[in-house]
Amino acid sequence: MLETFQDQGYAVFPEFLEKAEIDTLKAAVDEHAAAQPQRHAYENEQIGALVWHPRVGELVDELMGGPYVFHHIHAARHDAGKNGVSWHQDYEQYPQTNRSHLMVHVFFYLNGLNGTIGDLLLVPGSHRYATDSRALTFLGTSDLPGSITVDDVPPGSVLIVHSAMWHARRPKPGGEDSPRWFIDASYGRSGVKWPSYRAPGMLANLRERHVAAGGTRPWLFDETQFFDGARARATMGSLEGSVMLDLPQWQNS
Ligand SMILES: [Fe+2]
Repeated sequence: MLETFQDQGYAVFPEFLEKAEIDTLKAAVDEHAAAQPQRHAYENEQIGALVWHPRVGELVDELMGGPYVFHHIHAARHDAGKNGVSWHQDYEQYPQTNRSHLMVHVFFYLNGLNGTIGDLLLVPGSHRYATDSRALTFLGTSDLPGSITVDDVPPGSVLIVHSAMWHARRPKPGGEDSPRWFIDASYGRSGVKWPSYRAPGMLANLRERHVAAGGTRPWLFDETQFFDGARARATMGSLEGSVMLDLPQWQNS
């Protein structure tokens, strides 16, 4: 698993979740999807608790090989006719220049993938190259050289992908009687500050719930390892020329 991930940037764990977990999480995602007004997925009791799922934690521990922090969790139910998502990557960095520290996305397919509604497309190896996420949108959801299609995994399967890997969701017909319940959670290796997620108070809230549930990983929710992501996005538009020239490495050499 580690070797595949190092080489290809992703790893598949078929039927990773147990039946009872799948059922609980499906109900939780339904509840989240129906909530009015809309709420953040982490606020849901079961979805939030998935952030520190012990067996998922073991996998992420192995891949990270050292300390790391939680970034965000999303949840959605994809019904028949759901739109696709063009090629993009989700590595959190402003501006996109390097891949020094690992960030992963853990994809949970509660009802698996079966070639209906939406297929997951990946370009193994593409995580090695720093690319602006929006730079790939024009590619739509067509096959790319070297891309693979994930359209056949059983219920409860988990995929872990390097967050910088190019990926897309290709819309497919069918699936009227069987939605895709999807959750994704993201974690980043410690050692650099990560852009904060757009939910102030999320880390403190999850840390509190985690500790109250007897959790032993409060370090997952460490605000000091983040900077203001909204400010970074706003500042991006004003960058000019080679940012390198502003860096201490350049100025001191
Ligand atoms: Fe994505």
